[in-house]
Amino acid sequence: MSVPGTGDHPLKIAIVGAGPSGFYAAEALLKSGRPVRIDMIERLPAPYGLVRHGVAPDHPKLKEAIAVYDRIARSPEFRFFGNVTVGRDVSVEALRTAYHAVIFASGAESDRRLGVPGEDLAGSYTATEFVGWYNGHPDFRDRVFDLTQEVAVIVGQGNVAADVCRILAKTVDELRHTDIAEHALEALAASRVREVHVVGRRGPAQAKFTAKELRELGELEDADVVVDPADLELNPESLAEFEDRKGAAAKKNVEILREFAARPRIARRRQIVFRFLLSPVEVLGREHVEGVVFERNRLSGGPNEQSARGTGERLEMAAGLIFRSIGYKGTAIAGVPFDARQGVFPSQEGRIIEPGGPVVPGLYACGWIKRGPTGIIGTNKPCSVATVASLLADLASLDPGPKPGAEGLPALLGADGRRVVSYDDWLAIDQAEVSRGAPKGKPREKFTSVEEMLGLLGAPRR
Ligand SMILES: Cc1cc2nc3c(=O)[nH]c(=O)nc-3n(C[C@H](O)[C@H](O)[C@H](O)COP(=O)(O)OP(=O)(O)OC[C@H]3O[C@@H](n4cnc5c(N)ncnc54)[C@H](O)[C@@H]3O)c2cc1C
Ligand SMILES: NC(=O)c1ccc[n+]([C@@H]2O[C@H](COP(=O)([O-])OP(=O)(O)OC[C@H]3O[C@@H](n4cnc5c(N)ncnc54)[C@H](OP(=O)(O)O)[C@@H]3O)[C@@H](O)[C@H]2O)c1
Repeated sequence: MSVPGTGDHPLKIAIVGAGPSGFYAAEALLKSGRPVRIDMIERLPAPYGLVRHGVAPDHPKLKEAIAVYDRIARSPEFRFFGNVTVGRDVSVEALRTAYHAVIFASGAESDRRLGVPGEDLAGSYTATEFVGWYNGHPDFRDRVFDLTQEVAVIVGQGNVAADVCRILAKTVDELRHTDIAEHALEALAASRVREVHVVGRRGPAQAKFTAKELRELGELEDADVVVDPADLELNPESLAEFEDRKGAAAKKNVEILREFAARPRIARRRQIVFRFLLSPVEVLGREHVEGVVFERNRLSGGPNEQSARGTGERLEMAAGLIFRSIGYKGTAIAGVPFDARQGVFPSQEGRIIEPGGPVVPGLYACGWIKRGPTGIIGTNKPCSVATVASLLADLASLDPGPKPGAEGLPALLGADGRRVVSYDDWLAIDQAEVSRGAPKGKPREKFTSVEEMLGLLGAPRR
């Protein structure tokens, strides 16, 4: 048997997950110049992962990557199998038998926990569920957020925290013509949130916002930004960080915060308050969040390695809502080694390995399930290209046997009664969403349940 991916022996690959990293892996395979057949398997009927269900609705430019993914999906060597969950509807073992190799691009669907008392009280939410809810993710559409409260605390100072803050602080008119889910727009229209505290455990020079996202928080129609100038007095280590090329982004953030601090206070309906060097140690309340106890921190360590150290001093803040935005976390799929602490599939150069042990032949990872939950959409491209390079370097050692691909997997053919969603099916759903949005001046009105999406489709055509 010849090496797969040579002559008339096409390399058959399954990609698990239809987010950016999955599409960039498909693109790298298609560009390899080798004969390939790619089957992309996605648990939702809709492709695009966090570009559809993570990127904020008021940032439509960032969704332009979808045009690239659409071109990839239209390649004759590519097929999409939506509404199929790997590990549940089809096993990893079955995929390993049906394909020469499997690339996992399943992202980070869960979240880190704070690990403090009261974290699970009513009124305490994760950014993951709030973001999923306002973006119409089917898993989160039925969540209820208590927006009758006036004071909200967001723990974390990354770009997801900035997204959550903007959605809470914007007026409904600022959101009305975006693709925000209708249920979220209605709930936000009735929101009584007045103060949003965005709290970091380290100092302003260590906040992880990008400058554009931070600056935008100071440009909202009816929200004022509040920063205590005393919080912007930096220690020598932070100032030393600015000298470094890597410190340019942090320096920019501090400049923006200084500009916020110098602004005269203006009467606006909402306030965004930046707080630093505070770690939550307890969420207060009997049945519902009533406040948060923070421990004041100081920074410890040299430039670029400063960590937050508790001082023992406590500070109590009254608040009815808390959003934990401290990072996403990958989840396990049966049949794939999993590093539960990091929330990733352990890998070396994209090859999945047993933790601390040997390579698992034929299994690869890319994107957030490989690197952990950091990086913008574009970061996933070189990551996926590197994984595909490892796979192509391994061709001679892959099981060369003839592989049936989806034709050998009843679950992908819908034989178990499941309505498997093809790319043409998705295009029909996409078109229906765009049509629903048009009368409201929205780019689309998303379907937020799997049943609604499947209800639009007739019998499968493959
Ligand atoms: C809230 C938020 C906002 C963001 N905003 C921006 C932004 O504005 N600009 C920017 O550049 N970056 C942004 N990012 C970062 C960007 O979204 C990520 O870098 C990128 O989506 C990661 O790609 P991925 O393919 O690894 O994972 P994902 O995009 O999460 O895709 C994973 C896919 O795998 C599917 N899947 C999971 N498990 C299974 C399974 N068992 N079987 C089948 N399918 C499965 C999921 O349904 C999903 O479609 C944002 C991230 C978040 C969390
Ligand atoms: N517009 C955009 O481009 C956009 C939008 C959204 C997301 N993204 C990208 O998506 C990725 C994920 O974003 P993210 O905001 O989830 O992650 P992030 O950038 O890693 O930020 C996480 C924040 O949580 C804090 N944190 C972590 N553990 C904590 C704890 N136990 N207690 C208190 N605070 C804690 C971190 O503080 P420390 O620094 O001290 O750890 C940090 O401030 C990032 O790369 C981001 O840039 C981009």
